[in-house]
Amino acid sequence: MKKLLVTGASGFLGSRIVKFYSGRYDVYAPGHSEMDITDEENVYAVFKDFKPHFVIHSAAVSDVGMCDREPEKSWKINVDGSRNIAAASAECRAKCLLCSSDQVYFRSNVKGPHKEEEMLAPVNIYGREKKKAEEECLGRNPECVLLRLSWLYDTRTILEKEHSDLFRTMLLKLQGQEKLSYPVHDVRGMTDVKEVIGNLEKALELKGGIYNFGSPNDKNTFETIFAMFTELNWDVGRLEKNEEAFAANPRDLSMCPVKLNNSGITFRPALEALVRNGAEYRQGQNDI
Ligand SMILES: NC(=O)c1ccc[n+]([C@@H]2O[C@H](COP(=O)([O-])OP(=O)(O)OC[C@H]3O[C@@H](n4cnc5c(N)ncnc54)[C@H](OP(=O)(O)O)[C@@H]3O)[C@@H](O)[C@H]2O)c1
Repeated sequence: MKKLLVTGASGFLGSRIVKFYSGRYDVYAPGHSEMDITDEENVYAVFKDFKPHFVIHSAAVSDVGMCDREPEKSWKINVDGSRNIAAASAECRAKCLLCSSDQVYFRSNVKGPHKEEEMLAPVNIYGREKKKAEEECLGRNPECVLLRLSWLYDTRTILEKEHSDLFRTMLLKLQGQEKLSYPVHDVRGMTDVKEVIGNLEKALELKGGIYNFGSPNDKNTFETIFAMFTELNWDVGRLEKNEEAFAANPRDLSMCPVKLNNSGITFRPALEALVRNGAEYRQGQNDI
């Protein structure tokens, strides 16, 4: 059985990766206290010991606000930590996937859907960290694969302490009376995390480089959710437009899927997947 090392296993994505690939691979998922990714020596020692064939790096400070509040700490984890993982993977010849983000396209001069080779100048700290991490990782390990993920969601919670997401927050709010407010000046992909996880195995075959890795979407967030509710016959009266968010600087993080599709990997369009998940959720068929 091939050995797979997963970082960030207590997180939203990492916990699902471990669950899905255990049994198909010999999975080792050291927790933060066993392998602090910012500690280069610690990382090399773990890699030397386990000798992985494959690595999936999902550990990060994934909270954009936290990166703004603690830029030095998040830089260490998101940039230096990722570089340590990419370098250690190169050292033991393990194929390495690393999670980047669509936030690298924030405030791009080019209109979406964005392509991987675009010039980038992300405005937020998280986006800048992810961009720098991509450069540093490829500099140390040209065979590594950087996956620009979009807004991830699941239809169910796996771990009690995991952060919320688009879909589960929506379901929670639907149980109450409050309106569900979504921005009209924000266009971005929303991706079913199960699709990401299923596609990771194919991503291990990709040539080193950067790939947009998520569901395409050309509608703004309000339009997407409104269309979902309409198709599912859910009450659109619960939805309201948020006209304020991103009004001064409309955001478009939508990603072009062509490079990934040409490599044999596809994602369903965001709306199609949301509708399917919504229908399955209502029928209680939401198993991973
Ligand atoms: N979720 C999304 O919608 C989304 C969208 C685009 C991109 N991404 C990217 O996808 C990846 C996974 O995101 P996620 O939502 O699963 O993140 P998450 O739930 O916030 O999990 C982050 C993980 O990183 C670990 N970690 C933090 N600092 C560490 C350190 N110094 N050493 C070792 N482990 C450390 C955390 O462990 P402790 O809690 O024990 O510290 C946790 O397991 C990230 O790179 C994120 O930027 C996520």
